[in-house]
Amino acid sequence: MVRAGKVGLGLIAVTAALLPLAAHGGDVAAGKALSEKWCSSCHVVSDDGQAVATDVAPSFKSIADRSDTTEDGLKTYLAVPHKDAMKGLALPRLEIADLAAYIMSLRSP
Ligand code: HEC
Repeated sequence: MVRAGKVGLGLIAVTAALLPLAAHGGDVAAGKALSEKWCSSCHVVSDDGQAVATDVAPSFKSIADRSDTTEDGLKTYLAVPHKDAMKGLALPRLEIADLAAYIMSLRSP
């Protein structure tokens, strides 16, 4: 009985995790939080006052402002870890969408 109960809960969790897929266009606020957690050791991820991270990694705003940057292009790029230090940080699709949406939100009007 205990076993069956666990399986049931697991199914609910999986369903809840999959639901947002249907209508998910990328959540800018979630992408910002993820950037601060995972990317800010190398990138300047926002313009609200973060000091320079590293010289080699471009700031997210400068990436967004390049005319050839697209949300789809970012998703493709982020599907593969781009630095040795990121190995093991395989990003789930939803989080890639959030990060791409966030980066594009920094683009100057
Ligand atoms: C260990 C350092 C490091 C971490 C952590 C890191 N990056 Fe990078 N990133 C770089 C460097 C350095 C570059 C410059 C290109 C290169 O050398 O590969 C780069 C390039 C990029 C580019 C492409 C810029 C271009 O020139 O087109 C994007 C987009 C990007 N990073 C997004 C992210 C995101 C999103 C995260 C967090 C999930 C992240 N990075 C975490 C170091 C890092």
